[in-house]
Amino acid sequence: MTAALEVQSLSVTYGGDPAVSVDHLVLPRGVLAGVVGANGAGKSTFVNGVLGWSRGPARVSGTVRLDGADLSGIPVHERVRRGLLLVPEGLAVFGTMSVEENLKSTRPHGVEAQARAFTVDRVFDLFPRLAERRRNLAASLSGGERQMLAIGRSLRLGPRVMLLDEPSIGLAPRLVLTLLLTIRQLVDEGLTVLLVEQNVRAAMEVVDHLYLLERGRVIADGPVAAMRDDPRIVEAYLGSVRPDNASGAVA
Ligand SMILES: Nc1ncnc2c1ncn2[C@@H]1O[C@H](COP(=O)(O)OP(=O)(O)OP(=O)(O)O)[C@@H](O)[C@H]1O
Ligand SMILES: [Mg+2]
Repeated sequence: MTAALEVQSLSVTYGGDPAVSVDHLVLPRGVLAGVVGANGAGKSTFVNGVLGWSRGPARVSGTVRLDGADLSGIPVHERVRRGLLLVPEGLAVFGTMSVEENLKSTRPHGVEAQARAFTVDRVFDLFPRLAERRRNLAASLSGGERQMLAIGRSLRLGPRVMLLDEPSIGLAPRLVLTLLLTIRQLVDEGLTVLLVEQNVRAAMEVVDHLYLLERGRVIADGPVAAMRDDPRIVEAYLGSVRPDNASGAVA
């Protein structure tokens, strides 16, 4: 079956310095894959590069395929129209508009995107909290509500593949899992998602596959069950587990 997203030899360099170099990444349809790594590992640079976008003057090379179609030379807005959506780090909402206006004013371009696009009501069903705050200005939302709205706006554009860059940043631990479970629900309904997540423990509760990035390279990846035992994940993110009675002493 054709992969929903395939990335080959993607390299991003800033002023000659390589920031990201990823040989191969394949996401089958309906899969939720996580990208984890330390601050500065290149997670944002990577997902931005997949979309063909960068925060500063960068050189992006490599091949990205969406449902088998090569996106080389295709500008960002056209990638979006075809269903490759990025919810970037930080805010992606219009603060001076209400929640409902933010959603209503975000419309898909083209017939195919329209067919995939979520209605405003469907976004409200997915995020009941947004429905409660539909008349509030986006600027007045909490960080978590704003993330929901940013995801909602992307869903309005009719995604096939969503790249989410730390949607849970700044959220209380309880809300992190709620948000990630909602993303899981979207994937179970057929969406394909690449999720950058700081909270490795929480990510591992919901993802199918995990990529560990270090200095711009994938240093480990695999199905989440296998990655749970990977020493690089355990040592850096899960902490070593030492039972109290490891020495065999009996109180
Ligand atoms: N516009 C730019 N110009 C030069 N270097 C950049 C630029 N953007 C990012 N970098 C560098 O590229 C590297 C990767 O940054 P990136 O933002 O992708 O990391 P990250 O893994 O997303 O980190 P975080 O977890 O803090 O969000 C860092 O060393 C960063 O300083
Ligand atoms: Mg980042």
